[in-house]
Amino acid sequence: MQKTIISFVAIFVFLSCSYQNNKAENDSFAKQPDAQFAASEYPDRILQSVSEDPSRQINLSWRSSSEVEAGFIEYSVLSSEIKKTPELETEHAFVVPVTFENTTDHYFQARLTGLQPNTSYMMRAGSESHRSEWFTTRTAPETFEPYHFLYFGDMQNDIMEYGSRTFRKAFSSYPDSRFMIHAGDLVLSSGDDNTWGEWFYAGGWSFQQIPSLPVAGNSDHYRMQETPVDKRMLFPQWNGIFQLPNNGPSGLENLSYYVDYPNLRVISLYTNFESAGKDEREIYVDKHTKLTDDLFHNQLRWMETVLAENTQLWTVVVMHHPVFTAREERDNALLQEYFLPLFEKHQVDLVLQGHDHVYARGTNPELGNEPQLPVYVISISGGKMREVNDDYTWISKAVENTQIYSVIHIESNSLKLESFDVTGKLRDSFKIRLTSDPKKILDH
Ligand SMILES: [Fe+2]
Repeated sequence: MQKTIISFVAIFVFLSCSYQNNKAENDSFAKQPDAQFAASEYPDRILQSVSEDPSRQINLSWRSSSEVEAGFIEYSVLSSEIKKTPELETEHAFVVPVTFENTTDHYFQARLTGLQPNTSYMMRAGSESHRSEWFTTRTAPETFEPYHFLYFGDMQNDIMEYGSRTFRKAFSSYPDSRFMIHAGDLVLSSGDDNTWGEWFYAGGWSFQQIPSLPVAGNSDHYRMQETPVDKRMLFPQWNGIFQLPNNGPSGLENLSYYVDYPNLRVISLYTNFESAGKDEREIYVDKHTKLTDDLFHNQLRWMETVLAENTQLWTVVVMHHPVFTAREERDNALLQEYFLPLFEKHQVDLVLQGHDHVYARGTNPELGNEPQLPVYVISISGGKMREVNDDYTWISKAVENTQIYSVIHIESNSLKLESFDVTGKLRDSFKIRLTSDPKKILDH
């Protein structure tokens, strides 16, 4: 009898341990949102995307649980008075259902058009029963006046734990930034909806006030380990959260686009082709669109037209994978062969990138002794750090093991980039000066 009891106890302990082990293993790949990040009837994850017409249009999105079927924005020109708001306009939102594992959330997207340039607006998001707080944002000016914007490299890892402080130091130091660039790998590919929860937690209400200009990195794709070939699919949250200018190449909607601010064109490129080639992964832009050679060349042709027709004084390109890597064995031959010649031919000033988990800045070393445009920058804002390979001759400034945010100042005759760590210490800066049109000089 005693033996039987011992056997039962042993079996129970074994089953219980193996359940706990399986549970622990499964938990690390869990897709269900933690209670902290789960959607509710309240609007949350409110974010402003850059729009096609930043001086007259504001694109806003937010999330609620799927019980909420309709949403809208109420807005007016900013008033200081309480509960005596001027006449409110209402803009109804599109619903974008986002399904991951067994959960469907509703994202709402609204576009406010016909706004006045360089004007502060008050607005709130939500539904008949649940509304957000009133928050304030402003449209871009139509004519040039000096302004600045922010640039962040990969947030991706330890987002809530360490990434929060990068966002918050940047936002509190430069609250009047006109927009913020996220150079890809916003979140972690092996993760789940919680990783987006952390990203919004870190950025908080600044995402409502300052428009985001994102590019998708490899880690913004959900990674499915399959044999014989790994597959990656853009996180479904991407198209719920972001509503980006619809002026890109067909097949790369909401990923590849450009935006004009006074004296400036910013071009956002999709570079996950590099990952597809290198590791022979299958990458899907959405459920139906697989990356192909056609799509790659489509984007190149579009990029050449957008660069050739550009009449702005300054041109900035944003992409996730760097043209020149700062790390061992991560050189991007495809980008050097196809992208770099177009950047040089059409006099791009600045290429802002991520992916390497270091900070590095430099120029093409093959263009002679004097540094020539464009300037290439790689940055990192989250918690995963790697080492710089000191042998690379393209690098003129590198910073390791340090979270960085950068501010780019557009002045009347210069573009200046300053990079800071989370203590506020300046870690790098350079200026491109306009001398006599179209000549530009790089001070470094
Ligand atoms: Fe990456």
